[in-house]
Amino acid sequence: MDKTQRFLVLGFLAIAFSLFVHLGSAANATNRWMPQNADQELPSSPVKLNKWKDHVMLDNGIVKLTLLSPSGLIGEIQYKGEKNVLEYHLKENRRGYWDIVWSRPPERKSFFYELEGTSFKVIAETEDMIEISFMRTWNSSDSSFYPLNVDIRYIMLRGSSGFYSYAIMEHLEGWPDLNIDEARITFKLDDATFHYMAISDDIQRIMPTARDRTGGQVLNYREAVLLKNPSNPSLKGEVDDKYQYSCDNKDSLVHGWISTDRDIGFWVITPSNEFRVGGPVKNDLTSHVGPTSLAVFFSGHYAGPDFGIRLRNGEPWKKVFGPVFIYLNSGSSNKPSTLWEDAKQQMQKETQMWPYDFPSSEDYPQANQRGTITGRLLVRDRYLSREFMPAKSAYVGLAPPGDVGSWQTETKGYQFWNQTDENGYFTISGVRESTYNLNAWVPGVMGDYKYETDIVVTPGSQIKLGNLVYNPPRNGPTLWEIGIPDRIPAEFYVPDPSPELRNNVFTKQNQKYRQYGLWDRYTDLYPEQDLVYTVGTSDYRKDWFFAHVNRRTNNTFQSTAWQVSFNLTDVAEIMQLRDMDFMGYTHPITSVFRDFDSFLEKHTIYLKQSRGATPFNGVMYDYIRFEGPPEVRL
Ligand SMILES: *[C@@H]1O[C@H](CO)[C@@H](O)[C@H](O)[C@H]1NC(C)=O
Ligand SMILES: *[C@@H]1O[C@H](CO)[C@@H](O)[C@H](O)[C@H]1NC(C)=O
Ligand SMILES: *[C@@H]1O[C@H](CO)[C@@H](O)[C@H](O)[C@H]1NC(C)=O
Ligand SMILES: *[C@@H]1O[C@H](CO)[C@@H](O)[C@H](O)[C@H]1NC(C)=O
Ligand SMILES: *[C@@H]1O[C@H](CO)[C@@H](O)[C@H](O)[C@H]1NC(C)=O
Repeated sequence: MDKTQRFLVLGFLAIAFSLFVHLGSAANATNRWMPQNADQELPSSPVKLNKWKDHVMLDNGIVKLTLLSPSGLIGEIQYKGEKNVLEYHLKENRRGYWDIVWSRPPERKSFFYELEGTSFKVIAETEDMIEISFMRTWNSSDSSFYPLNVDIRYIMLRGSSGFYSYAIMEHLEGWPDLNIDEARITFKLDDATFHYMAISDDIQRIMPTARDRTGGQVLNYREAVLLKNPSNPSLKGEVDDKYQYSCDNKDSLVHGWISTDRDIGFWVITPSNEFRVGGPVKNDLTSHVGPTSLAVFFSGHYAGPDFGIRLRNGEPWKKVFGPVFIYLNSGSSNKPSTLWEDAKQQMQKETQMWPYDFPSSEDYPQANQRGTITGRLLVRDRYLSREFMPAKSAYVGLAPPGDVGSWQTETKGYQFWNQTDENGYFTISGVRESTYNLNAWVPGVMGDYKYETDIVVTPGSQIKLGNLVYNPPRNGPTLWEIGIPDRIPAEFYVPDPSPELRNNVFTKQNQKYRQYGLWDRYTDLYPEQDLVYTVGTSDYRKDWFFAHVNRRTNNTFQSTAWQVSFNLTDVAEIMQLRDMDFMGYTHPITSVFRDFDSFLEKHTIYLKQSRGATPFNGVMYDYIRFEGPPEVRL
C-alpha cells in the first residue's frame, strides 16, 4: 500500500525526564537612548572608567561595575553607592562570570570553564558610553585549552541603571574539533539579603537559602531537595529544585531577585532571542537558589546530550551572544511587585531598542544593516474548513537552512521569531544578513511548516512574501483525536503532587506540571494496569496522564504500555490499519522518541514507552489523531 495512504497520524511530543556598528559618533547616538532615563531626577553624570593594576571600574553615578583585569570576571556591582550586590564572601573571581562547558572530541571528558580574558582593551570611551573588552586568543600550541577566541564586552551608558554584556566567540578555519555544550553568564548575589525571586507574573516567591538546601534531604536527583530545617520556617517541608524554574526562551526575557531589606532589584534582561538556540520553546534555566541569576544562551538541558555546538573538520564559526542588560532598580517600599513591574517595563524598553545602536563590534549589525520580512500565513486543511484559514497566533521564524523542523536542534546560527496576528499577518524585523529558511507552526494545527524557497536577507532589505499556504499533514477525516496540537501537553491530566513534596508557588493549574515527583503519581493511579483510553467515553483532560512514564515496582521501574481502544464502525477494513505510520515531530524538550515502540492490534493501539530502569525515562504526547481513508464520507 502506498505509504502516503496512511490512516493513522500521530503527532507527539517526546520528553526525556532527563532531569532533567560601528560607533562612528557615539556622542550623537546618545540622544537616542537618553529618553529612557527621562524619569531620572538628577542630571546624569558622565560615564567614567577607572583603571588599577588588576581591576577596572565602569561608573555612571548610578551603577559601579568592577571587573578583574585582564580576566573580565565580575568582582563587584554597586548600586546607588551601596555595598556589592554580589556575594562578597565568595572569592572575587567566583561572583560573576561568563562560562562554557566544552570538550575536544574524540576526548569525551568535558570541562566547565569560566571564560577569562588575557588582554584588556578600551573599545569606546566618551562621556556618554564606555565599552571595554576582555579578550582571549587561542594559542594553537595549547592542546589542553578550548580552541576558541573569546572577546567579552561590557558597556555602560550614561544615565542607565545597569550595564550590558555580550561576547563574540570565534573558531577559526582549520582549528581542532570542539564541542560547546553550554554558554551562559552567572551572577551570584548577596546571600544574606536577596531572598525573593521572580521569574514571571505567576512564579515569584521567597526562596530558601543555599544553606537551607545543605540541611535538607536530597530527593531523587541532587538538584531536588526537601527542606527540613530552613532558616525561614515557613518554607519547611517544601521541595526546592532549580529545574522547576526553567522557562521557554520566548517567556524568559526578564527574571531576577529582590532584596527587600536593601530595596534593590537585580534583573537579567534578554532583549532578543536571536542568539539563543533551539527556537522559542526551548527550555532553559533562569534563576535559582544561590541566590543565582543566569543568562543562559544555550544548554543541553531538556534537549539531550547531542544538543550543543559541534565544530568539526576545521569548520569556521563565529557568533555574538547578547548583549543582555543587567538592570538594577529600587523604590519598592518593600513591595516586590513594584520592582517586578518596573523590571518588566524595562524589558519592554530594551526589546523596543533592539537592535541596539551602541555595541561597537563589527560583528553586531545595527538596525540599518538588518532586514525585514513580512507576509501572511494561511492554513489549508479541507477536513477542517473549505476556506483557507488564517494562521492565528502562529509562530513564524527564520532559521539557518535545513530540513523541516531542524530549527529545533540548530545551534550555530541566529534565529528570528515572531507571532502572527489573528489574521495570520507577520513581521520579522531586525534580521541579520544571511540566508534562511522560513519556518512556522500554528497552535491548533498539526505539524511543521517550512517555506520552500531560501530567503536571502541583505542590509536594509524589505522582503514581502505575500500569502503563504501551509498544508498540514492530513490524509482523511478525523475519526478521533486526543489533545490539542500546540506543543504543550497542558490539556492532559496533571496530578497533584504528593502532599509531602510540594513547592507552594506552583498551585495554579497551568503551573502544576512543574511540581516534583509527578512521575511517581502514575504508579499511584495505575498500580497494576496501565492506562487504557477508550475513545468515546474517555476524556483526555482527565484520563490521559500528561506524561508516559514508567511504573515503580519493588523499587525498580518497569516500562509501560498504554492502550487506546476504539471501534471502527463502517469505515475501513481493519487490515488497512496495519499500514500505520508515525508522524513524529519532536519538541525541543525531547530526546527519547527514537526508542519509542508501538504496534497495532485490532481495535487497540498500544503505545509502549520502552525504556525502563529509571523514573526519568518518559514521553509526552502533544496530540494524537486517527484519520479515516480519504474517500470515506462521514
Ligand atoms: C554631532 O552632530 C553634529 C550635528 O548634527 C555634528 O556637527 C557633530 O560633528 C557631531 N558630533 C560627533 C561627535 O559626531
Ligand atoms: C603558546 O604556548 C606555548 C606553549 O605553552 C608558549 O611557549 C608560547 O609562548 C605561547 N604563545 C603565546 C603567544 O602566548
Ligand atoms: C513582531 O510583530 C509585531 C506585530 O506585527 C511587530 O510590531 C514587532 O515589531 C515584531 N517584532 C519583531 C522583532 O520583528
Ligand atoms: C514485588 O515484590 C513482591 C513481594 O516480594 C513479590 O510478590 C512480587 O512478585 C514482586 N513484583 C515484581 C514485579 O517483581
Ligand atoms: C465497541 O462496540 C462494542 C459493540 O457495540 C461495544 O461493546 C464496545 O464497548 C465498543 N468499544 C468501544 C471502545 O467503543
